[in-house]
Amino acid sequence: MAESTEDPRMTRRECLAWLGRAAAVAGCVSACSPAWAGDGEKKMANIMALPSGSAKEYDDPDLILVRTETGVAAYPRVCTHKHTPLAVDDAGAIVCPLHGSQFGYDGKPVTGPATRALKGFQVRVDESGNVWVDTGKRVEGGTFAPLPAWAQPKSK
Ligand code: FES
Repeated sequence: MAESTEDPRMTRRECLAWLGRAAAVAGCVSACSPAWAGDGEKKMANIMALPSGSAKEYDDPDLILVRTETGVAAYPRVCTHKHTPLAVDDAGAIVCPLHGSQFGYDGKPVTGPATRALKGFQVRVDESGNVWVDTGKRVEGGTFAPLPAWAQPKSK
């Protein structure tokens, strides 16, 4: 049986070609990631347009902001049941139009069939009340960014 005389090591040219293909695959994986996969902080709103005890949908990126007396939280607009887009109904509830799940402002399911809580995005509210969301950083549902002092509820 004749032995191969080929050198099993990659030539420099083969190695560069392989690295190029690997980079192309990495770029494709990155491009195929969800639209909210981390472009850093983005200013989404000002709390003056988000009354306490309300939720509002946004398209770019697809998320829902909620404001309570505690602060502001952000969630992806994707149901944890079958990944259908979520909506905010006329009463301000976070709902799934497909099967009717409803989520509280803490991200927890209030009614099923969804059983898993929404995971949030990191939020920051600056001194002017601007709401900044970093879709590359995930936090537990119910993580609220504090409001600036002037927007906090007055203690009695
Ligand atoms: S996809 Fe949302 S409840 Fe089924």
